[in-house]
Amino acid sequence: MCGIVGYIGDNKACPFLVTGLQRLEYRGYDSAGVATLQQSNGIRLTKVSGRVAELESAIDDRIGQGSLGIGHTRWATHGAANQVNAHPHSGGAGILSLAHNGVIENYESLKLELQNNGYQFVSETDSEVVAHLIADCLKEAAGDEIAPQDCVEAVQAAIARLRGTYGLVIIFRDFDDLLIAARCGSPLVIGVGKNEQFVASDTSPLVGFTDKIVYLADHQLALIRKDNIQVLHRDEGRVRPDIQTLSSETVDVNLEGYPHYMLKEIYEQPQSITNALRGRIDYDNATAKFGGLNLTTQQLRSVKRILLTGCGTSWHSALVGEYLMEELARIPVEVEYASELRYRNPPTDHETIVFGITQSGETADTLAALREMKRKGHHTLAICNVIGSSIAQEADGGVYLHAGPEVGVASTKAFTSQLTVLSMLALYFGRLHHLSFEAGSRIISEMEKLPELVEQTLGCHEQVREIATRYQESDNFLYLGRRFNFPTALEGALKLKEISYIHAEGYPAAEMKHGPIALVDENTPSVFIVPQGTVYEKVLSNLQEVKARGGPVIALTDHVDPQVTKLADDVIQIPQTQDFLQPIIASIPLQLLSYEIALLRGCDVDKPRNLAKSVTVE
Ligand code: AGP
Repeated sequence: MCGIVGYIGDNKACPFLVTGLQRLEYRGYDSAGVATLQQSNGIRLTKVSGRVAELESAIDDRIGQGSLGIGHTRWATHGAANQVNAHPHSGGAGILSLAHNGVIENYESLKLELQNNGYQFVSETDSEVVAHLIADCLKEAAGDEIAPQDCVEAVQAAIARLRGTYGLVIIFRDFDDLLIAARCGSPLVIGVGKNEQFVASDTSPLVGFTDKIVYLADHQLALIRKDNIQVLHRDEGRVRPDIQTLSSETVDVNLEGYPHYMLKEIYEQPQSITNALRGRIDYDNATAKFGGLNLTTQQLRSVKRILLTGCGTSWHSALVGEYLMEELARIPVEVEYASELRYRNPPTDHETIVFGITQSGETADTLAALREMKRKGHHTLAICNVIGSSIAQEADGGVYLHAGPEVGVASTKAFTSQLTVLSMLALYFGRLHHLSFEAGSRIISEMEKLPELVEQTLGCHEQVREIATRYQESDNFLYLGRRFNFPTALEGALKLKEISYIHAEGYPAAEMKHGPIALVDENTPSVFIVPQGTVYEKVLSNLQEVKARGGPVIALTDHVDPQVTKLADDVIQIPQTQDFLQPIIASIPLQLLSYEIALLRGCDVDKPRNLAKSVTVE
């Protein structure tokens, strides 16, 4: 949920620290700070309660000269989003400084113990407790004569007492040639340079600085010097750093002329869907093909139940996946919120496989749920966008989206790519069982049209912008759809609420008469997803029920029917496609509607309040 960086080398630290924090700001942007060390002039620290841009202006020569440093951009978990609680935090009267990503669950008892030992706290954070705990362990171990090895042992002793999650970067006042990084539950990657080393929460800060990387695993600690890296595992001792090459997909993301990342990513969807399809269509057998499921065809054929889990938008993808798998493959599917699955302990048998759906591959709830299901012996698969992410590494296999970095906090292209992958998986499982060659071929030809259909759908942008002007002051919205478009309605509602702060709810359209229709009045717009199909007439009658109560209606339909144009206040026409692919098409106008309304309301579209792109805390 926070972004952390570290640098040690021949160059000044701040250029990497600031660039790295800018690229990690999507992980949290309540406050930011850097700490650097230049020879033994003591640790220099500056931090702001604001964005990295403000931090950059606050950096002066005192800070800028250091060639060892750490940095942090925060999503507040413990303590308000202010300067005092901003990282880095100092420990033991300035003997060290650290930046932390994660949540320490036993920080209160540790804080009390340290206060009884005379430590003074200035912040409300759990991270400052870690800083003083390391200092306390150092004092215990080495007294006043401190050697670098004492620092390592002090960190090891301190983290052994922590319960919870951490990604840590730590520098020590007396040693300008030592940077320590440690990981448990929050991601950390080391960039290997020539006489310089980099540390970051993910690979995006490393682009342009190095293409050699080492992923730290849980319970690993790295002693980083400018010309070498040692990795120690809590139980296994010294381990050889596994140096990998940075994926070419981890490109240096920039706006490319768009005003916001979210808009750029909405318009990238024809390409991202093309990427999701690329190389995965098996024309000769009218099916799909995947390289990373790591199960034999026989094993896949024997799958009797599929469990899909995720959070937020990824959970909505899972709901669409349920309809897809059950309709095309006739395999029973369970969908679980990852945060529930971990503790709900549902009865499952050995013929159930589990898919974790996640854009970032770092969502703590999804990671924990997959670990639990793996522990119970299930084959776990990740549908993920970030190559080498924690979930991608820990799952038994999976499918990458290849959507390219998604920076906007509101997920858009990842959602439609997740649905594209789930459609191909449904085709694959269907063709293992009852789907005929002809049926498979028809599905493939429909899927191949998707990029073009999405391109066409983007043409509604001007109309959506005009509609947005009329509804920007609304306080409540309803989103309604049936079958495949019930999850689409949920996703449309989430988009609106998370970037425009308007309360919005999604429902199966038929549910309106069981309570929600009481909410309908002239100030509560309802968005109906009402394409042609088996339930068209039913949704139309639900639309009439809302209209009869004076509620404004925005209708998304693929067939301009006089009934719809007569009833709806606005009709957005979308291209026709098979019902199981409609969520991909219908979500485009909903993404644009939320974007345009949020803009009109002056909201920060890419970094909405209270949110972060990757939720790495439970
Ligand atoms: C979606 O717009 C939100 N940003 C959020 O719900 C997100 O989908 C959720 O946090 C899951 O993230 P993940 O896909 O990276 O696991």
